Amino acid sequence: MAVLTGSRAWQALKEHYAAMREVHMRDLFAADPERFEGFSLHFGELLFDYSKNRISAETLDLLCRLARQEGLEDKIDRLFAGERVNVTEERPALHMALRNRSGRPMTVEGRDVMPQVNGVLARMREFVAAVHSGAWRGFSGEPVRDVVNIGIGGSDLGPQMVCAALRPYGRPGLRVHFVSNVDASQLLETLRDLDPATTLFLVASKTFSTQETLANARSARDWLLRAAGDPAHVARHFVAMSSHAQRVREFGIDPANMFEFWDWVGGRFSLWSAIGLSIALAVGMERFEELLAGAHAVDEHFRSAPLEANIPVIMGLLGIWYIDFFGAESHAILPYDQYLHRLPAFLQQGEMESNGKSVTLDGRAVDYATAPVVWGEPGTNGQHAFYQLLHQGTRLVPADFFAAAQSHHPLGEHHTLLLANCLAQSAALMAGRTPEQARRQLQAAGLPPETIDRLLPHRVFAGNRPSNTFLYPKLTPRALGALVALYEHKVFVQGAVWGINSFDQWGVELGKQLADSIRPALRDDARDQKFDSSTAGLLRFCRQYRIPS
Ligand code: F6P
Repeated sequence: MAVLTGSRAWQALKEHYAAMREVHMRDLFAADPERFEGFSLHFGELLFDYSKNRISAETLDLLCRLARQEGLEDKIDRLFAGERVNVTEERPALHMALRNRSGRPMTVEGRDVMPQVNGVLARMREFVAAVHSGAWRGFSGEPVRDVVNIGIGGSDLGPQMVCAALRPYGRPGLRVHFVSNVDASQLLETLRDLDPATTLFLVASKTFSTQETLANARSARDWLLRAAGDPAHVARHFVAMSSHAQRVREFGIDPANMFEFWDWVGGRFSLWSAIGLSIALAVGMERFEELLAGAHAVDEHFRSAPLEANIPVIMGLLGIWYIDFFGAESHAILPYDQYLHRLPAFLQQGEMESNGKSVTLDGRAVDYATAPVVWGEPGTNGQHAFYQLLHQGTRLVPADFFAAAQSHHPLGEHHTLLLANCLAQSAALMAGRTPEQARRQLQAAGLPPETIDRLLPHRVFAGNRPSNTFLYPKLTPRALGALVALYEHKVFVQGAVWGINSFDQWGVELGKQLADSIRPALRDDARDQKFDSSTAGLLRFCRQYRIPS
């Protein structure tokens, strides 16, 4: 047994789980009319309701003991102190500095990084103003009307999710698009309706070596030059956001058009950096800074609130409770907010790339489960697709619900219906429907007893399915910044307790390397013997039908 699972706090939770396993949340709510007050927290304008979880005060106490045993408070301090918490890449993870609005220094290796951070923000502000005012002009002298962010993973998902979420704040006359997939279909479908003369490309890549991004950026440059002719025009249409000036230069983008960030910013935590330029262009620098302010407020909460009243800590520990004690395999993200439709995809990277690990910081195999499969869809759509499984399937799927009290678009009864559905789903998952209730309903419908007996098992809902609900008055930049930062820190909390490195991603390397060796074999059959028979067979098929380019 590994150190963690053999530890006192873990064993105490295991025993407690045996007692809690059969406890129904229905009974917990019935026994305590104040349960909502006891298990919900307000943060600014955000409400975090975690009362619909299979927990008691003792559960939380034991989970916090586990966190303390694993040194969480100290690990949070070390994270904010800019220590090299990413031990396999030997770097800090100080994305909080990017949104530090406190005026306090934040240091990496003893050096305050705030002057650099604020310097890039100032350059972004200038650039955004130039684009918005029309002072920045393309090769034909026209202002920018379309911005295309070319990036993948953290250089795409964060800004894309935020731009979608903040669409109501979008500047009229400027459209922002995202191209990530190396499948040319995405690039070509995006460019089809655009005019090269009024299109600005943002090449977003921390390393500036990512194959998909460079392939898309090259093809975008060719598309531009077919219209613009002179390569000197690239400078008016291409800017880069990267930590690698040399590679940006080699690609042919003027370093004067590069917005820098640093290796202490992980890709999936980078939307607050220059990678957020697409956001600032879409909604304006002021709104971008409100987003930063929302996240900063959460940073302050995370580093100072006691564990028992610390929202990301509670989120993380609840996840551990279900993953490691109840055996939950997945976690559903269910926004009742169409503007958050990319949130599940964004959090997928945030949780699965960060904590999808099976060795501890010191390289030992874990004997407990780590990150769950994160998935989801906007709520009401999901209700007509996969909620059947959430309610009556054989798996326990903890879920997070999100909704704004006010819509950006008050239209008739729409928002009332949306909110009613959101609240109804978490209530139904929690309480379920007992056989007695189901029988009464069927009797009330006037069905004969034998039909009732036949239908009854199908009409029962076990309930006891946990969820959290996040409510906010309106989906503002500030509220969104806070929500995202809560999840970033949740991920850190879980990684800290599991003793894994949440900040590296070696698991994406093997496939990348193999793709490099498979690529030539798509043209040349002499290489087939290098591969297993399945890969060789697939290659044969591709070669047979492929139109070589
Ligand atoms: O493939 C994984 C990854 O390294 C992610 O962590 C990262 O967000 C993405 O690729 C893109 O990387 P880059 O910004 O360096 O192009």
